Amino acid sequence: MAGTVLDGKAIASQIEIELAEEVADFIQNNGDGPTLAAVLVGDDPASAVYVRNKRLACDRVGIESKMHRLPAETGEEELLELIAKLNADEDINGILVQLPLPPQIRSAKILDAVHPLKDVDCFHPENVGLLVQGRPRFLPCTPHGVLQILDRSGISVAGKQCVVVGRSDIVGKPVATLLAAKDSPVGPNCCNGTVTVCHSRTSDLAAITRTADVLVAAIGIPKFIKADMVKPGAVVIDVGINRTETGLCGDVDYEAVREIASAITPVPRGVGPLTVVMLMLNTLTAARLQLT
Ligand code: GUN
Repeated sequence: MAGTVLDGKAIASQIEIELAEEVADFIQNNGDGPTLAAVLVGDDPASAVYVRNKRLACDRVGIESKMHRLPAETGEEELLELIAKLNADEDINGILVQLPLPPQIRSAKILDAVHPLKDVDCFHPENVGLLVQGRPRFLPCTPHGVLQILDRSGISVAGKQCVVVGRSDIVGKPVATLLAAKDSPVGPNCCNGTVTVCHSRTSDLAAITRTADVLVAAIGIPKFIKADMVKPGAVVIDVGINRTETGLCGDVDYEAVREIASAITPVPRGVGPLTVVMLMLNTLTAARLQLT
């Protein structure tokens, strides 16, 4: 029997409803609402779509968003100046710098310059350090989305074999950290996993992925995870968003793997919508942190 489809879009919509109430309460108590500054450099069409989706989500939950669009040839200094301005602006609570940045700009330089209390992506080294130490200020958006899907679908990772395929700073590393953590702000079922991280240089990767009770695919290669790499009954979370000639697809060979898995996230309508709503949550968190 084919596995359950974990409907990320429906879960994200439910969280948006909860969040909209929290934002309304915040505005009632504090006058001003949370405000997100979105910075988009260049004209990568996919990035433009992501930023648009984030701004539409802001509208839905009552968060104000301010757009800063810069040309592809923008220099590092110019972007650092904008970040400094946004850091100093008391009306801005969160700063989102959409990645990737053009090649002449060093991403690390820019992300390090974002004020740690406005770092709604949780990319700043201070916030990554706090996360690794088990006392997070913000949870990174996509990894948090993965945890929310698991938790709200009644899937526990505690004591389970979790395999993460991919070791990126945005997904692989932080999701592995969260799954292995001793406790979790999301709930007791979202931590205490036994986590293995695989990547492009892992030898006999399929032998490792086949040990997974919970398999997280975040390697950025279309349909990389095939059915014979998955243990029957595993839960499969597909974080990939790949644009191919035949449309969007994930890192998992969805149709074939669904026949093996007990539960699986689709692409689209899987993890993607959660990433967006977790950014909204972090913007509210940032606004709360800046009250004190
Ligand atoms: N590019 C791809 N994913 C992300 C993300 O989560 N945040 C930002 N800022 N850029 C991205």
